[in-house]
Amino acid sequence: MNNEQQPKAVIVIFGATGDLAKRKLYPSIYRLFKGGRISKEFAVVGVGRRPWSNEEFRSNVTESVEKSADGESLDEFISHFHYHPVDINSPSSYGELNTVLKDLEGQHNIPGNRMFYLAMAPEFFATIALHLKNEGLTATEGWSRLVIEKPFGHDFPSAKKLNEEIREAFSEDQIYRIDHYLGKEMVQNIEVIRFANAMFEPLWNNRYISNIQITSSETLGVEDRGRYYEKSGALRDMVQNHMMQMVALLAMEPPVMLSDEEIRSEKVKVFKAMRSVKGEEVSKYFVRGQYGSGTIEGESLQGYREENNVDPKSNTETFVAGKLMIDNFRWAGVPFYIRTGKRMTAKTTKIVVQFKDIPMNLYYKNRDNVEPNLLVIHIQPDEGITLQLNARKTSDGSYGEPIKLNYCNNCADKQNTPEAYERLIDDCLNGDAANFTHWDEVALTWTFVDAISKAWEKSPAAFPNYESGSMGPELSDKLLSADGFNWWPVTERLQ
Ligand code: BG6
Repeated sequence: MNNEQQPKAVIVIFGATGDLAKRKLYPSIYRLFKGGRISKEFAVVGVGRRPWSNEEFRSNVTESVEKSADGESLDEFISHFHYHPVDINSPSSYGELNTVLKDLEGQHNIPGNRMFYLAMAPEFFATIALHLKNEGLTATEGWSRLVIEKPFGHDFPSAKKLNEEIREAFSEDQIYRIDHYLGKEMVQNIEVIRFANAMFEPLWNNRYISNIQITSSETLGVEDRGRYYEKSGALRDMVQNHMMQMVALLAMEPPVMLSDEEIRSEKVKVFKAMRSVKGEEVSKYFVRGQYGSGTIEGESLQGYREENNVDPKSNTETFVAGKLMIDNFRWAGVPFYIRTGKRMTAKTTKIVVQFKDIPMNLYYKNRDNVEPNLLVIHIQPDEGITLQLNARKTSDGSYGEPIKLNYCNNCADKQNTPEAYERLIDDCLNGDAANFTHWDEVALTWTFVDAISKAWEKSPAAFPNYESGSMGPELSDKLLSADGFNWWPVTERLQ
């Protein structure tokens, strides 16, 4: 799409003085601008409680994009930014904001297209959405879209209530719920790898795949988010959204076309087929962990219970491993193992698809040496694919050995890969909701996760149970070994 065809819109960012806007949103809008992927006729209105001037706001935005900016384009870019203080509980404040938006739309010839981005605490989502409607900010000739950051509720009832409130002001097709993993290059590539390769799709089922493993590990601890994290834990923070979304993309049937509705409807079917686990069964399928002290890259680190704003007897999990069973025709009997946690050995997200052993392998010295075929999808920090096959490496001997074929998507020029937020803002401006989560997905994943939290709330855990810098508690390894599997190493880099 050339620049002329890009939709003209005003982007209104609530939470404009906050951390997410500064770290992710401004740099992403800048890259869209520099790449000509945003109309030259655009405006960004930063909204916040603080009484900032335009100058203060612009210097904050400049700071956040400076590293990747060149002087000339930066001046032009920054001239599109405006600040407007809003008291989110005061109707007249929204009326004033509407006047600012109308002025900017007049100046830039924007046909009333408005993207409202709520980059702030979830307790304000509903209030803002309702005021936007009631004060007439959504009644324009163009489109209005609402972008919402996570968390979307903290369990099914709270998510449902929030959804009902927001739906009073915006229809489902105007709501863009962010899951930033869906904006990552290699997460988007899962469907391409599956559905554009004759080599994979015919094998992508329980006849040929023995298990699938998804790891998303972090070295960081809870940092300054103790207050939020104490109520969330890894299950709500990572599993209900990012991990479940990756499972859905790996397990779904091919959509009949690449439209939002078709993709979402296939993902929803996966969540419906996911075996629900509750009560005493939970311990057979899920393992929780909490980091104690330890060392990462030579730095001694304190345990979770010693972190700021964390209860010294906290029962909050900072690690989850789980076995998900998808009881449908394609996947019956194939475990999807997931694990995610803070303060682990490495920052990495990887998917390992393990194929079944062939019935009789003539090229192995003995059965114990058999190495399965693996397809590894590297999501981050490296982006690429490894295919592990068997071949004879040297002419002597007649035994096969594992060999690895590597493809690295971002090795040559890291700058080429757009940031997740860059894609998602672009998609929203263009009305493409395929990489956002539909309410039906949110409802089903919360229902699944709630049963696990409920079981865990009833039984305090023996925390801490893994050292900072490790790959989680021993029980996580046992979850797989009980089925005759093991976690494949995920710390190897592609480059
Ligand atoms: C966020 C979680 O959604 O994802 C954080 O709230 C987590 O706790 C982050 O650190 C991980 O995202 P990424 O892109 O760094 O893997």
